[in-house]
Amino acid sequence: MVVTQAAAGSYAAFSTTCPHQGCAVASVAGASIVCPCHGSTFALDGSVTNGPAQTGLTSRPIMVANGEITLA
Ligand code: FES
Repeated sequence: MVVTQAAAGSYAAFSTTCPHQGCAVASVAGASIVCPCHGSTFALDGSVTNGPAQTGLTSRPIMVANGEITLA
């Protein structure tokens, strides 16, 4: 999973599997989640900001409690 915090206290989690050809997104650069295979980038909400991926990252439900983030 990749976990983002677009605003203080607002967390989201996504599968690391790139929807283009299945590589694992490997880094976050500024406000972009980056796939190293063909250069797709995704916003902190998982949406595509640069292809070749045509769809966003798959959201994963999480719970935030007592300072811990867990899968819901
Ligand atoms: S597998 Fe991620 S851009 Fe191609």
